[in-house]
Amino acid sequence: MIEDKRIDLNNLPNHVAIIMDGNGRWAKNRGEHRIYGHQHGVKSVRDCTEAAAELGIRYLTLYAFSTENWSRPKEEVDALMELLVQTILAETPTLNKNNVRLLAIGNLRSLPGKCFEQLTEAMADTAKNTGLTLVLALSYSSKWEIVEAAKNIAKDAMAGQLDIETINDNTIDAYLTTKDIPHPELLIRTSGEHRISNFLLWQIAYAELYFTDMLWPDFNRAAFFEAIVDYQTRERRFGKTSEQLTS
Ligand code: IPE
Ligand code: IPE
Ligand code: MG
Repeated sequence: MIEDKRIDLNNLPNHVAIIMDGNGRWAKNRGEHRIYGHQHGVKSVRDCTEAAAELGIRYLTLYAFSTENWSRPKEEVDALMELLVQTILAETPTLNKNNVRLLAIGNLRSLPGKCFEQLTEAMADTAKNTGLTLVLALSYSSKWEIVEAAKNIAKDAMAGQLDIETINDNTIDAYLTTKDIPHPELLIRTSGEHRISNFLLWQIAYAELYFTDMLWPDFNRAAFFEAIVDYQTRERRFGKTSEQLTS
């Protein structure tokens, strides 16, 4: 049951993306280590996944680990990878119960072997689910993705499989790791930072941006609904005038 009666179920975003930020500060505020914040962030992931699935949103992409995050202290990176393995293992039955399909984008081969295997297994286990698609961005950065796309476009052009004159927006889309995923209509970032941090740069060209000061471990079902309500107040003009939209 959707308890937030302000939500218009006929005007939902098809795809919501979230930059889950503020775990470290949340832990610090409590005099705890950063990893304590990451552990508590899992609850928010669960809440948002459930809320999105219940609303009937088709795609939820979560920025879980960026290319740049590899430069954090080794203990933190190791703990995050371990948490990832544990969480995937523990949550797969719930994903199946809720008909959620798991996907991942990013340089997955750069993940520790155990992580990669657990992820691959969970994706295979949930592949047939037809409800929400949950996309984890892992070892992901938009610039990495665009560089990979550029290389592959160049290779295909040189091999005569791609006519340079035909390259358009759709060609670029088809070479990104998100090729089978529609672009997000709504991007949420928690923790009061107003930046994109190398996330889905191409794909958010026309997304509505929603920033909240809430730290990620505090972000819950009600906060997710609040973001949807805010999204529904936006007028998405795509370059047109307001009058053109209503005529
Ligand atoms: C987001 O929280 C989680 C990851 C980037 C993995 P942070 O760890 O960035 O938390 P802050 O920004 O330091 O508070
Ligand atoms: C962005 O958060 C990456 C993820 C949420 C995974 P960061 O905390 O790494 O971003 P910056 O470095 O503050 O921009
Ligand atoms: Mg951060």
